[in-house]
Amino acid sequence: MYHKPYVILGIVVFLIILATPYWVTAGNIKYEDIHKELAKPKGVNCIMGVKWMASKHMELLNEWREIAVRKGVRKYKTENGVFNVSLTECWRCHNYDEYCKKCHEFMDVRPVCWDCHYNPGMKIPTVNYIK
Ligand code: HEC
Ligand code: HEC
Ligand code: HEC
Repeated sequence: MYHKPYVILGIVVFLIILATPYWVTAGNIKYEDIHKELAKPKGVNCIMGVKWMASKHMELLNEWREIAVRKGVRKYKTENGVFNVSLTECWRCHNYDEYCKKCHEFMDVRPVCWDCHYNPGMKIPTVNYIK
């Protein structure tokens, strides 16, 4: 076929354009870049090491939910200390908006936890409690 080289070139160009968003994103967003954008937490150590926390905090929270709700365990000991088994424990050291949310937005993660659980970034309406 006379136009064959052009057809193949066309397909190659098309595939490169199609793949562009992937390698542009892959090249731009690096863990180190996000890490240094985050607000400095209080305290010296997290519950576990930083790299471990970065990749496994969701698993830790799942484990915490199970041991708290099903077994009534409310304290958790690691080599970094003793921690309260609760999502609110995170707010002792971390700013929600400038830490958790910032990274989640970069990563496009949307935890549903805040439908029920408190985080300090929330605007809580004033309630008239019945005494
Ligand atoms: C539909 C409501 C709801 C949603 C959504 C929800 N939880 Fe909970 N969670 C609860 C309730 C109710 C308890 C029990 C509170 C207690 O016993 O202190 C609880 C307890 C927990 C506990 C232990 C106690 C504490 O104070 O934190 C953890 C940890 C936890 N949930 C983590 C999570 C995580 C992580 C998510 C999101 C991935 C999540 N939950 C989503 C309702 C919810
Ligand atoms: C006693 C204070 C303290 C508590 C409590 C705490 N953190 Fe941390 N967290 C830190 C410190 C300090 C770092 C390390 C920051 C650094 O070195 O850049 C950290 C790091 C992290 C990182 C790694 C972020 C990155 O850039 O790699 C994640 C994720 C994290 N914490 C989540 C949590 C969650 C979720 C909770 C609650 C379950 C929690 N932390 C409770 C102090 C704490
Ligand atoms: C350095 C980036 C980073 C930081 C900081 C961070 N997270 Fe995450 N988080 C992630 C990523 C990435 C996921 C999704 C992992 C997956 O899908 O396997 C995630 C998932 C979660 C989930 C599970 C969501 C679900 O729907 O299952 C919870 C809960 C959560 N993070 C809570 C927190 C809290 C609380 C903090 C702050 C104290 C925090 N994260 C800080 C990157 C981060």
